[in-house]
Amino acid sequence: MKKILIATHSKGKFPEIKKILKGLPFKIVNLDNVGINFEVEETGKTFKANAVLKARTYGKLTGFLTLAEDAGLEVDALNGAPGVYSARYCPGSDEDRYRLLLRNLKGIPAKERIARFKAVVAIFDPKSKKVRTCQGVLEGRITFEPKGEHGFGYDPVFYVPQLRKRTAGLTIEEKNKISHRGKAWRKTRKILELF
Ligand code: IMP
Repeated sequence: MKKILIATHSKGKFPEIKKILKGLPFKIVNLDNVGINFEVEETGKTFKANAVLKARTYGKLTGFLTLAEDAGLEVDALNGAPGVYSARYCPGSDEDRYRLLLRNLKGIPAKERIARFKAVVAIFDPKSKKVRTCQGVLEGRITFEPKGEHGFGYDPVFYVPQLRKRTAGLTIEEKNKISHRGKAWRKTRKILELF
């Protein structure tokens, strides 16, 4: 069976991605499975640039059809920050980072706390050397205080108006249905069906 490499070391993300791609005629492997133990430095200025960089680098190295994702949070009142720096907004934990975000939005009223999660998946085909990308977006608002037990990252402070809940208040299945990541990977699945 043809192999697809998912260019991640994340123990949490890999099973979720595998779930979305289930049923496709590919053996799905991750970086650890193919003995790659280094990270490509995410030097791009956009999610798309970083996803493409990772897919190309690992795809050229291994010769496998390679998929890489980059994702993060954009806040309008902060001119798009934390953006590609979402995971590195400040040292410490996810909680340190969302608390910094709340501090940086101090005094900003509810209607101006517009934000979105974005995810871009890049697909590199080593045969044609071509890259395709799929994007998913989830629009929302940053709250004034954290709440919710599920998810990770900025989920405790990301409110989805249409569900009247924070993403940290959703189960994985509920979140996947509407999330940036779910949307981007479902589009990716459609493209893989053509391979
Ligand atoms: P990654 O590149 O997908 O690992 O995401 C980069 C960073 O963006 C994460 O470390 C989180 O801080 C943030 N992020 C991306 N997606 C989500 C999400 O679904 N919920 C909360 N935070 C997210």
